[in-house]
Amino acid sequence: MDSRADEAARPRALVTGAGAGLGREYTRRLAADSYDLVLVGRNEARLRELAQQLESEFSIRAEVVPADLSAAEGIDAIRAVIESTRVDLLINNAGYGLKHGLLDSDPDELAELDTVLSGAVRDLSVAAAKEMKARGRGGIINVSSLAALTTMGQYAASKSAALVFTEALAGELRDTPVTVTAVLPGFIRTEFHERLGVDRPGPGWIWLDVEHVVTRSLADARRGKVVSIPGWQYRLAAQVAHVAPRSLIRLGSEKFSFERNS
Ligand SMILES: NC(=O)c1ccc[n+]([C@@H]2O[C@H](COP(=O)([O-])OP(=O)(O)OC[C@H]3O[C@@H](n4cnc5c(N)ncnc54)[C@H](OP(=O)(O)O)[C@@H]3O)[C@@H](O)[C@H]2O)c1
Repeated sequence: MDSRADEAARPRALVTGAGAGLGREYTRRLAADSYDLVLVGRNEARLRELAQQLESEFSIRAEVVPADLSAAEGIDAIRAVIESTRVDLLINNAGYGLKHGLLDSDPDELAELDTVLSGAVRDLSVAAAKEMKARGRGGIINVSSLAALTTMGQYAASKSAALVFTEALAGELRDTPVTVTAVLPGFIRTEFHERLGVDRPGPGWIWLDVEHVVTRSLADARRGKVVSIPGWQYRLAAQVAHVAPRSLIRLGSEKFSFERNS
């Protein structure tokens, strides 16, 4: 067992959606960097197993706080952790997609998705930013998506809100040591598409590995970059999206549908 002094000296990160995909890789990378961790998600058993693995492999402390971030109680529980304990790095990563479009989805489903992808990101970021600003250090990473630059349904609308929010917060924290970074990945090999119940679309080269996304986004965050786009193909796509007429973006977004492509 390590001493309390060691624990006090180690940085501490809170990662939402820590049990799978990108979140799981963030936790492994941070544990290897001697971060203590707070693991957040709905699947408590999976998070506890991960916490045990990380603690024994990397000699760090990993706590589990189960929470459903589509509900106010879940967000409040994580906000309470942020306000009552030291969190040096917050990674708002939890997320998922919807298979159906706006008109074919239940309105409650759309609202829940918006809460996880945007509302929770906003509330937890604001709470963490206040604490970090007062402490004079800290970082926030919000996992948005390249879809934020498209018009692909509620997912794109909520990811876009998370992107603009993150940029606005970074502006308010410009003269402080606190960094805020939005990550805009393209397609990543995770459980995301399995959970959606769709095959992975497109050719192999469009797929990013979680390792690459985590390496690039952590490096960009450390440099204080406000927007991180892992993968050369997606940096190029983002440049095209910024200069393309919006009507073309809308047309392309309409043509892309998980329902049609599955
Ligand atoms: N994969 C891609 O192609 C891709 C592309 C661009 C952006 N992204 C974004 O990357 C982030 C990570 O996704 P991923 O690709 O790693 O997918 P993933 O493998 O399916 O993991 C998603 C994680 O989010 C958690 N989660 C989902 N709903 C939640 C809720 N209501 N409350 C709390 N936690 C919740 C899940 O944990 P529990 O089930 O335990 O709750 C899981 O750990 C998401 O924000 C996603 O939108 C993914």
